[in-house]
Amino acid sequence: MDIKVEKGRAEKYPCELLLIFSFESPEKLEGPIQNVDLEWGGFISTLMRQGDFKGELFQCRLFHTHGAIPAQRVLLAGLGKRGEFDLEKWRGASSRAGQFIRDSGVKQFVFQMRKLNGHLERELTESFVIGLLLGLYQFNEFKTLDRDKIKEIEELILLGETGGEILSISDGLRTGKIISEALCMARDLVNGPSNEITPTVLAEKAKQIAREHNMEVQVFEVAQAEAMGMGAFVAVAKGSQEPGKFITLEYNKDKGLDTIALVGKGITFDSGGISIKPSEKMERMKDDMSGAAAVLATMQVASKLQIPLHLVGIIPATENLPSGKAYKPGDILKTLSGQTVEVISTDAEGRLILSDALNYSLRYQPKGIIDLATLTGACVIALGDYVIGLFGNEEFLLKRIEEASEKAGEKLWRLPLWDEYLEYLKSDVADFRNVGTRAAGAIIGAIFLSKFVGKIPWVHLDIAGPASIEKDRPYIPRGGTGIGVRLLVQLLRDWKS
Ligand code: BES
Ligand code: MN
Ligand code: ZN
Repeated sequence: MDIKVEKGRAEKYPCELLLIFSFESPEKLEGPIQNVDLEWGGFISTLMRQGDFKGELFQCRLFHTHGAIPAQRVLLAGLGKRGEFDLEKWRGASSRAGQFIRDSGVKQFVFQMRKLNGHLERELTESFVIGLLLGLYQFNEFKTLDRDKIKEIEELILLGETGGEILSISDGLRTGKIISEALCMARDLVNGPSNEITPTVLAEKAKQIAREHNMEVQVFEVAQAEAMGMGAFVAVAKGSQEPGKFITLEYNKDKGLDTIALVGKGITFDSGGISIKPSEKMERMKDDMSGAAAVLATMQVASKLQIPLHLVGIIPATENLPSGKAYKPGDILKTLSGQTVEVISTDAEGRLILSDALNYSLRYQPKGIIDLATLTGACVIALGDYVIGLFGNEEFLLKRIEEASEKAGEKLWRLPLWDEYLEYLKSDVADFRNVGTRAAGAIIGAIFLSKFVGKIPWVHLDIAGPASIEKDRPYIPRGGTGIGVRLLVQLLRDWKS
């Protein structure tokens, strides 16, 4: 969809469809909706008075204007109660309106952006565009039948009345598009099947992002990782015919800026390995690289928005498969940190590849390390699929993440890293076991990771629940969600040293 910003007023603008939002049962109409109502001979106020359109949240009603105003159609869309309005509802409302317009087969629409409830045009436009583009996301790459039935909106024109409004709207549009496009790229990677999205493809994607956005990229082959001492990453990678890749991306290198390391779990398919998973829902395990996808997308956004930070993206990418070369329960691995791990389950592979990736990130002397991983089924049991599990070793970084979460509308909940649970990770034959108890599984996974970050402020985001979902949400269609991107982008945009 092509999105343009133009000077103009809703009631004067000829178009296929004019989108108008209203709060629920407003005392009086104000701004663009009032202007359209006047031009339209009181049509909207009559509807509302008679109760035909109340403005309930996500309510949509389409009308033909029969030439009463220059727009051929008007879509009235509800925002719910004024007192309950926030940017999260706004993203949802724009998404629902966009889906309604697309599904009606309309190709072009217009919307006049105006301050709402104290929110300025810039932030409203950014959230509007994000809600719209994320809500309209479709993954159709592999559908060959009935392609002519796939509907898409071709053009959106955002109207502003004054020069100042136009500048703010253009600015919000630019940011909203950058974030949405990167996030949809992450969704494509997550939704893409593991026979297409291999570690090699993730490495190619990293190289492409580096090329297009002026970043440094380095891809280590498994043999190089082995020579460097990444015994845990290598053990997991060995079981697969598909070559593993250890990927690093660096943005704003050598500029004397604060360094943040972003580490993403990149298991392109998790069968469990020799400790093989039950086959039910195993197809979902193509999403086990959602952390990696979020890191790639965030790096792209950071560069496009020119965020003044030195960012290092680290992605250990491999499949986890059983084979004659696969690592086995009972194996003892020597990690990059020098610490040894006894393998109890080859299905606890995420923490293994991350132990080397986290330890590797210390070489950059980061001010903070953030990892994103579909780490544990236990986190899904604990928090469900709406909420990221949050862990960390430093209060200040945890607080920053919680603030970013609030703003971005990506929910998370803090879980403890209490030492009592470390007991379960003690091994008779090595420094640690890779599995503790089933109880407190998400916490024990996080405690394992904590042993590989030294004393650097670190946060672990267990995204196993929200990485992909089974039911549509207002601006997140079912499937891969791209969770973590908006959270990280918000954190990095607000970062102050
Ligand atoms: N990728 C899985 C975690 C997962 C499970 C994500 C379900 C999304 C949905 C991870 O590698 C895994 O298999 N974890 C094990 C750990 C256990 C063996 C300690 C788990 O959660 O069962
Ligand atoms: Mn696993
Ligand atoms: Zn996994």
